[in-house]
Amino acid sequence: NNFVVIMAGGIGSRLWPFSRTDRPKQFMDVFGLGKSLLQQTYHRFLPICPRKNIFVVTHEDYRELVQEQLPEIGQDQLLLEPHRRNTAACIAYACYKIASAYPNARIVVSPSDHAIFKEEAFHNCIFTGLESVIDQDRLLTIGLRPHKAETSYGYLQYRDGDEATIKKVKTFTEKPSKEMAELFVDSGDYVWNSGIFIWNVQAIIRALRKHLPDLADVFEEMKGDYFSTAEGKSLQKAYSHCKNISIDYGLMEKAGNVDVILGDFEWTDLGSFQTIHELNQEKEEGNTVFANAMLFDVEDSMVVSEDPETLVVAEGLENYVVAVREKLVVVVKKGNERNYKKIFK
Ligand code: GDD
Ligand code: MG
Repeated sequence: NNFVVIMAGGIGSRLWPFSRTDRPKQFMDVFGLGKSLLQQTYHRFLPICPRKNIFVVTHEDYRELVQEQLPEIGQDQLLLEPHRRNTAACIAYACYKIASAYPNARIVVSPSDHAIFKEEAFHNCIFTGLESVIDQDRLLTIGLRPHKAETSYGYLQYRDGDEATIKKVKTFTEKPSKEMAELFVDSGDYVWNSGIFIWNVQAIIRALRKHLPDLADVFEEMKGDYFSTAEGKSLQKAYSHCKNISIDYGLMEKAGNVDVILGDFEWTDLGSFQTIHELNQEKEEGNTVFANAMLFDVEDSMVVSEDPETLVVAEGLENYVVAVREKLVVVVKKGNERNYKKIFK
């Protein structure tokens, strides 16, 4: 009765132009390991449940990319969204669909843009979590000890002195300001939200009804259509009524029944060039170079290119990102990639 839902419909906007709407980062082999982030995520979950219980939710446009990268995935497990409506709709769709056939399902919902090391610890954490949510009206998330005041994560505050494996969450704050994040990290009571959620399907449906009732109505209405030929058409209509909101803002921040289990594996969201640079083990004189490049007096920088024929020559850069893709070259101070989010959708 264990299911996994992999969310793979985001566009990785902070890695632009390396990650772009037509081929977001989850489909990329970021470290040259021979597997994309999506493939890594899928394989990481194989020990958790039977293959047929692993679902991937993504935008229609990525159907072929997913089928190419995960040929083992069946039609019923590939959930194609007609519009981009963020993670609340993605989760509601997958959970209502699974509930229609498996009302007692326990579900792990996972992003597809993470690097995880120490997989055994990861698997143990997931199994403990799945065990704990049986018949519980609780929303469990995996938390990780923060080591810097990162503003692109959610923060979970748990109750003082709670020594239990599954801890009650007092507050959930999605993407705080820098000042808030610093306070959170210094206080020691907060952990990062990994974005990996574990719940039994009835608990998430109850929470959707309570906090996002319009969204719940839309997917409730589709009841008879899941796993049938009418699903696609019915979904078109459903998605045109969904608002664009993440599960974090729309539900997790509001819910009073959130728990956290601390993960002791190593984890990072590959959200920025900075993170990829930090993780890259194969630096060339301190630089991350995924390109045909000649660098002179370049320090702590990244040069990334899709096109091996383009020779990138750079001199005198410190702490910069140079990204080359098709007819586009971007040069930006490392850490400032976020500013580009508004340029494109
Ligand atoms: N199917 C689908 N549809 N997937 C989506 C959509 C969508 O509309 N939007 C985003 N996703 C996928 C992304 O591809 C990613 O794998 C995952 O959902 C999370 O979305 P992000 O956009 O990467 O979220 P985030 O990183 O800003 O924030 C979330 O993850 C953090 C940890 O990585 C939050 O849960 C934070 O609280 C958390 O700290
Ligand atoms: Mg992310």
